[in-house]
Amino acid sequence: MKFATKVIHGGDTIDPLTGAIGIPVYQTSTFRQSSVDHFGKYDYARSGNPSREALEKCIAELEGGGSAFAFASGMAAISSALLLFSPGDHLVVCDDVYGGTYRVLTKLFSRLGIESTFVDATSVDSVASAIRPETKGIYLETPSNPLLKITDLKGVAEIARRLGIITLVDNTFMTPYLQRPLELGCDIVLYSGTKFLNGHSDVICGFAVTGSSELASRLGFIQNCFGAILGPQDSFLAMRGIKTLKVRMDQSVRSAQVIAEWLSSCGKVSRVHYPGLESHPGYELHKRQADAPGGVISFELDSPETTRKLLERSRLSAFAVSLGGVESIISHPAKMSHAALPKGERERKGITDTLVRLSVGLEDRYDLIADIEQAIADGTD
Ligand SMILES: Cc1ncc(COP(=O)(O)O)c(C=O)c1O
Repeated sequence: MKFATKVIHGGDTIDPLTGAIGIPVYQTSTFRQSSVDHFGKYDYARSGNPSREALEKCIAELEGGGSAFAFASGMAAISSALLLFSPGDHLVVCDDVYGGTYRVLTKLFSRLGIESTFVDATSVDSVASAIRPETKGIYLETPSNPLLKITDLKGVAEIARRLGIITLVDNTFMTPYLQRPLELGCDIVLYSGTKFLNGHSDVICGFAVTGSSELASRLGFIQNCFGAILGPQDSFLAMRGIKTLKVRMDQSVRSAQVIAEWLSSCGKVSRVHYPGLESHPGYELHKRQADAPGGVISFELDSPETTRKLLERSRLSAFAVSLGGVESIISHPAKMSHAALPKGERERKGITDTLVRLSVGLEDRYDLIADIEQAIADGTD
């Protein structure tokens, strides 16, 4: 099945009881058992619920097989996957990882004796040279958030495989439609499903996916033990959102390309980060490992005043945290997604106070350009 078919028919899509087109919301915490000796497929909804299971099967199928686990948020999925590691283990992490991931690694997992080294993962050599005998995991995002830096997934996965290290990839910006890290040799794919997967800015959810049966059984155990599961109502909504993933992504990518090109020629924009621009240092690599550059652009403005104007005067793009919705969202990483990073650390990574991130929604692309133009135009505030 092609991707367009899988998003509609992937997983369990017909309710076996009624024939309903779509698995309903099984709003129950428990399931009545009829035998003391043999419990049914479902016993308690933390361990399994048909609404969640339908979504998990769909995600696994989109990712090309294996097993998927749905969590209450992207951070719940990421944190649950990080529970695979033990005190004394060391992780190599890309240096502009999502701020919440940085925070959980440096404030929580560090307390549990799991140490992280942050490296510029655009260089496979930098990743390789940060590996120690106790390194058990490599954690990547490509394109990264918010600078859209590109990591060679196949190159890193090959090194990791040889050394028995688990490679984890946060694939939130790409979704399985545009990039499938498991096919490139990585072990676990993580999502904030809150973003493009659900796509309607109305559900917080996350996923962990793996092609390895051994990792699947460990992740399933953690999901049940730790209990940060996705509820049935949100599972239903996420499943509904995924049905339009392909058409939404196609539209966002087409518009993002046009807007990124326009921004590159705009006098008040000093730098544009978008892997669809030939000037992007990761352009060729990204083209090899992904099917399109995605719907997120980040760019630097010429001054703090222009930055403030853009954020506060945009009428179509909502000035908000998050991305990947049908509506365009403009955000300020220094104050939002990456506020958890100390200022010095943030600036060292290139996340300046004049950097903004635009998640391109489904509005007309020329309306979006006109909106940016009016927001940053000279004139009274
Ligand atoms: C790349 C990335 N990963 C993970 C997360 C965390 O996801 P959630 O907000 O669903 O917990 C986010 C949220 O912004 C993100 O952008």
